[in-house]
Amino acid sequence: MSLLRQPLLLVSRSELVKNLVSTMPVSAGIVNSYVPGESTESAVEATRALVDDGLKVTLDFLGEDTLDAAQAQATVDAYLDMLRQLTASGLARNAEVSVKLSAVGQALPRDGDKIALDNARTIVRAARNAGTTVTLDMEDHTTTDATLATLRELRKDFPETGAVLQAYLHRTESDCRHLAFEGSRVRLCKGAYKEPESVAFQSRLDVDKSYVRCLKVLLAGQGYPMIATHDPRMVSIASSLASRYGRAQGSYEYQMLYGIRPEEQKRLADSGETMRVYIPYGQEWYGYLMRRLAERPQNLSFFAKSLISKK
Ligand code: FDA
Repeated sequence: MSLLRQPLLLVSRSELVKNLVSTMPVSAGIVNSYVPGESTESAVEATRALVDDGLKVTLDFLGEDTLDAAQAQATVDAYLDMLRQLTASGLARNAEVSVKLSAVGQALPRDGDKIALDNARTIVRAARNAGTTVTLDMEDHTTTDATLATLRELRKDFPETGAVLQAYLHRTESDCRHLAFEGSRVRLCKGAYKEPESVAFQSRLDVDKSYVRCLKVLLAGQGYPMIATHDPRMVSIASSLASRYGRAQGSYEYQMLYGIRPEEQKRLADSGETMRVYIPYGQEWYGYLMRRLAERPQNLSFFAKSLISKK
């Protein structure tokens, strides 16, 4: 992992830095390149542009670590509004949604898991009515068991619900085995949080090796793997493994984040692959932005310039 990554993830917890950065209008250069806007309309507009280009989309209403039940409810309402607008625009077939359980109440001190489950169920039901699906994002390792338990509950009535697994965790190869069954949608990413050695691989090489082991399990299995990475090596290995395991195009998909390697996104879609772009939107873009910068410190100078000009 990059030397800059850990300090940046720590700085991202500083209130001072957060206040400074959060006063930037979302249009400030770097923010806008990762987040199309703060409103549902801006997200729907970005969805339309990508779908017109032959891509699919998953939408994430930004927000995490909600410690307030009213805020959790407001997040549910935002998802319902988004699903209504996607349906009205004829986009719901090509756009699913991604939900962070901590944004819908998982971290609340009392009954957090139950509140998050009930709220997630409301969103999952609305998504089904709109003809689309939900994937549960995965947050730091202290939430993995609770998130997988919520997935199991939701799948009883809504088996189309998917979840994210993070290759940097030691446990993930085994989680992949448990989730590689028919109809199971698993989004495999490397993982974006600062995790201790006791639970997570620390070097880039070890994370990549784990990613490949997990890919093998998922592509050889019966489920629907969603290969979420911008890493050219991982994409090329996934493509070879898909051929090795006799996977037809459309029996798995690639996923990348909005604004990252857009030309590669288009290339994969043009070659007949299903390519889905993760679009985050909303006012709470700070934590998301800091994780992206931690992965790509080259962007820091660009970021510093947009902070100074503060347009
Ligand atoms: P990595 O960061 O190792 O980069 C490898 C290469 O990719 C780079 O050398 C470069 O070529 C290219 N690249 C990467 N970032 C780039 C950039 N900003 N600009 C240009 N090129 C770049 N994490 C998590 O913990 N929980 C979750 O729920 C999710 N959900 C999720 C959904 C989707 C659809 C995606 C794509 C990712 C996530 N993530 C996530 C984030 C994920 O864990 C990871 O942090 C990032 O995807 C970065 O890892 P990469 O696999 O892209 O490779």
